[in-house]
Amino acid sequence: MTSGIGSRSLIDQSGIPEHEAVRLLAKATNTSRGVLLLDTDVTPDHAKAFGAMVERRRNGEPLQYIEGDVPFGGALIAVDERVLIPRPETEEMLHIALARVPAPRTVVDLCTGSGNLAISIALAAPDAEVFATDISADAVAVARSNAESNGVPVWISCGNLFDPLPDSIKGSVDLLVANPPYLADHELSDLDGDVLREPHRALTAGPVGDEVIRAIGAEAGQWLAPGGFLACEVSEFRADIAPSFFVDVDCHLEVDMFGKPRFVIGTRGGE
Ligand SMILES: C[S@@+](CC[C@H](N)C(=O)[O-])C[C@H]1O[C@@H](n2cnc3c(N)ncnc32)[C@H](O)[C@@H]1O
Repeated sequence: MTSGIGSRSLIDQSGIPEHEAVRLLAKATNTSRGVLLLDTDVTPDHAKAFGAMVERRRNGEPLQYIEGDVPFGGALIAVDERVLIPRPETEEMLHIALARVPAPRTVVDLCTGSGNLAISIALAAPDAEVFATDISADAVAVARSNAESNGVPVWISCGNLFDPLPDSIKGSVDLLVANPPYLADHELSDLDGDVLREPHRALTAGPVGDEVIRAIGAEAGQWLAPGGFLACEVSEFRADIAPSFFVDVDCHLEVDMFGKPRFVIGTRGGE
């Protein structure tokens, strides 16, 4: 034991929920959460770093931005206010896609954000060529940095949906994934404060909410190879109509772990 401050009292006095305090103290001290719960000494420097993190959390910053990274698939994805925080539902969609196409050759991830889907697919399928696009230059910078830190080559470009992709892969994509923005502009006001700290362009698609998914659906069939597989996350509240946006792709809805319809899953005909 060093002459430091007890982890238990730091957690108890933090004024934020215990599970959040434990996570932040684990980050500040680079120690496992279990050890901290048993009460261990924390150096004054680590206690100061923890105090700064608690202050950010009390000011409403999302926990994951303060921690700085999120595990996703086999990857560790750095996140900050430039990108959406990857969600467990999206990880479910990753598992659905990789279960159906375990060894893809040509992969496209639209609306890549932090690069979470593209990078975890590249890690799981090292022989695949993985292409990703995002309209936000900030997100592209984060995704490129994440690809590098995870040690995978992912082609990442800035622009609207399919526009930046090389024409040479048109009609040969065997796995197309997307987690586009799918809220209507007016739904932003229903969100809680933490979520509102995430980029609004990652959340809302326009006045209706379907705008980006419709645009993906109009073109997806032209990029998929015959038999190519599609997985696209959608709003549970507008899921019923979403499969009909996809031209030349046989689509159906699948539910997430809570039984909510969240994924448009499809295959381009002509196998
Ligand atoms: C819901 S976030 C998803 C991020 C990441 N794929 C994930 O699963 O966490 C949507 C992303 O789509 C991007 N985006 C919005 N409109 C776009 C468009 N028209 N073309 C390309 N990317 C777009 C946003 O910048 C944002 O990064």
